[in-house]
Amino acid sequence: MSQLLGPSPWQGRSTVNETAAELDAADPLAGIRDEFELPDGIYLVGNSLGALPKAARTYVNTELDRWSTLGVEGHFTGELAWKDYHELLTDQLAALVGAEPTEVVAMNALTVNLHLLMVSFYGPTPERHKILIESHAFPSDHFAVESQIRQRGFDPEESLVLVEPREGEELLHPDDILAAIAEHGSELALVMLPGVQYYTGQVLPMADIVAAGHKVGAVVGFDLAHAVGNVELHLHDWDVDFAAWCTYKYLNSGPGGVAGAFVHERHVADQNLPKFVGWWGTNVETRFEMATEFDATRTVESWQPSNAAVLPLATLRASLDVIDKAGGIAAMRAKSERQVTFFDRRLAETLGDRVENITPSPLAERGCQFALRVVNGDGKRVFEELEKARVLCDWRYPDVIRVAPVPLYNSFADIDRFVDILDGIVQ
Ligand SMILES: Cc1ncc(COP(=O)(O)O)c(C=O)c1O
Repeated sequence: MSQLLGPSPWQGRSTVNETAAELDAADPLAGIRDEFELPDGIYLVGNSLGALPKAARTYVNTELDRWSTLGVEGHFTGELAWKDYHELLTDQLAALVGAEPTEVVAMNALTVNLHLLMVSFYGPTPERHKILIESHAFPSDHFAVESQIRQRGFDPEESLVLVEPREGEELLHPDDILAAIAEHGSELALVMLPGVQYYTGQVLPMADIVAAGHKVGAVVGFDLAHAVGNVELHLHDWDVDFAAWCTYKYLNSGPGGVAGAFVHERHVADQNLPKFVGWWGTNVETRFEMATEFDATRTVESWQPSNAAVLPLATLRASLDVIDKAGGIAAMRAKSERQVTFFDRRLAETLGDRVENITPSPLAERGCQFALRVVNGDGKRVFEELEKARVLCDWRYPDVIRVAPVPLYNSFADIDRFVDILDGIVQ
């Protein structure tokens, strides 16, 4: 745990009337911002690409130096031996998603992992062939699911179930998700939903979705791209079957960083699951004997087909060490909840009903992302003006400006300044 943290650092601090300066002064994570290199301006776009941890340069340089001096021997030499490098990250990733170390691996990219996991967890039969996703799923997930359905000889017209927000609404009603799962019941092979919806920032009730899916005999997997490093997760205890996430958002691994995958230990032990495998999934003890009989490792690493991409893993390792220094996800979330509450208050008192946030209000149903919509105005133009003012945020069609104060490196003052700039533009 971080030295920075006292038992209840936020105790007695309300966000009801304290200023940004007072909240920053009381923030036990304020010093963690110094661990990052931030672009000029106000960086509020960790929902898309996290900031660069300063230590990433050192961690990458270490591997470049090892490569320079050791050459191929770097694979086998010392504590940082490349053949095992991905394992250096396992415990920290497991802590972030609430998993056992045997259930988590850093490998590949997110969509690749979703495909590899669907090979194992989508086993359609003529009776049970449907996959339930949300109608506004991230396009890559939608494409991946459709292609898996076709690949197995089924038709998305019949096998793809889309759960939608109600007419005229943005957010998914948890009850509607659970009702759709029950309705498709015995025809449902797989439920695959986001932990946090990428557009609205809505957190879905993952434990309830798993229970509902399992009740009808379906497998339940999650895309945690916008959830990991943002909200607390308990994948093992929730009995999630599988999950995958990218690490370039709230885990700050850099563009195209190595993704993560989770498979529940119930399935890790199952040697009969279909899998697309490669040499890196075989028993470490015998991997280099080059036998052609696949002897699966007894961890989720048996899903890892290729040797690890060490240089991008080094940047991720640097970021995970910063997260540890900050006290882990519980400490980050404690600050994030204050920032979100402060942001809500500043938006309401400054912009009133000129800007609406479509993200749910209750803290339990949101992470750090805000999905702002300009009421009666040209949102795209407002976004462009924000860019000109060096506010880094992002625009998502049709009409949302996504803004995410990230507790590791954003201050309360960033939020304050953002609201003032937005107010000036919207005026
Ligand atoms: C929710 C979600 N799913 C999938 C992806 C695609 O990720 P990748 O390009 O790493 O496969 C993204 C990328 O931002 C995403 O936000």
